[in-house]
Amino acid sequence: MRIAALAGPTRPTAPRPHEALAALAHRLQAFQFLLDRFWPEPGSRRIVDLGAGHGLFAQIAARRGFSVTAVDARPQWTLADALSIGRKQPSRARPEVAWIEGDVRSFDTAGFDVVLAIGLTYHLPLQAQRDFLRRTAGQATVIDTEIYDPSDPDAAACERLRPVVLDGYDGALCRETGDLWSSIDNEESFWPSHDAMLRMCAGAGRASVIAVGAPYRSRFGWRQWYVLDGPLP
Ligand SMILES: C[S@@+](CC[C@H](N)C(=O)[O-])C[C@H]1O[C@@H](n2cnc3c(N)ncnc32)[C@H](O)[C@@H]1O
Repeated sequence: MRIAALAGPTRPTAPRPHEALAALAHRLQAFQFLLDRFWPEPGSRRIVDLGAGHGLFAQIAARRGFSVTAVDARPQWTLADALSIGRKQPSRARPEVAWIEGDVRSFDTAGFDVVLAIGLTYHLPLQAQRDFLRRTAGQATVIDTEIYDPSDPDAAACERLRPVVLDGYDGALCRETGDLWSSIDNEESFWPSHDAMLRMCAGAGRASVIAVGAPYRSRFGWRQWYVLDGPLP
């Protein structure tokens, strides 16, 4: 009997696939809950998914009957791309989602009924986040973001995060990685505290902010879903 060994990857890629997939599965469920709760009837609503990345949130919305446009500065990537498995080639967008390659900082969201910024805003600097919140004021906006809490052990242990107070907003500066999940050209982004997030929304003239569900864990501390200027529960 011949016995052989086949060398595999020497160490898991970061983030480790099972963790990343479990976290994404949880977020996809949360998004579906949120759609059920706030927009159970898609009607003829138009949704724009900013920073769409792999496009799964956009596809869920499209399958429910929304008219969906996805925007990302990168060509649509797949989870296999993100986890460094399979071929690193952009996948084709699903036909039901219009895919636009562009910078969310200058993308005009006028005419869309719902704006999605899922896993996006914490990849932007503070001023770009404030501009975005002001530009989309009055439009229903779904945000899923990292929330910085300096007392959280995972946040404190993350060497990419540096606590700051900028223009009165407390949070952290995060060193971006340059991978598929990351910012386009800014080397640092701003992660607000929950309080700073609420004050940024107020300062941008948002009419309402609903924190949807409890904060949930990421590798770096807490994340939170928010619906701004949407239907009130
Ligand atoms: C963390 S991924 C989020 C992907 C998906 N929305 C999710 O939550 O799983 C962030 C995405 O935003 C995109 N992105 C970051 N900065 C951007 C910018 N200024 N303009 C357009 N896309 C940007 C990245 O290319 C990446 O696909």
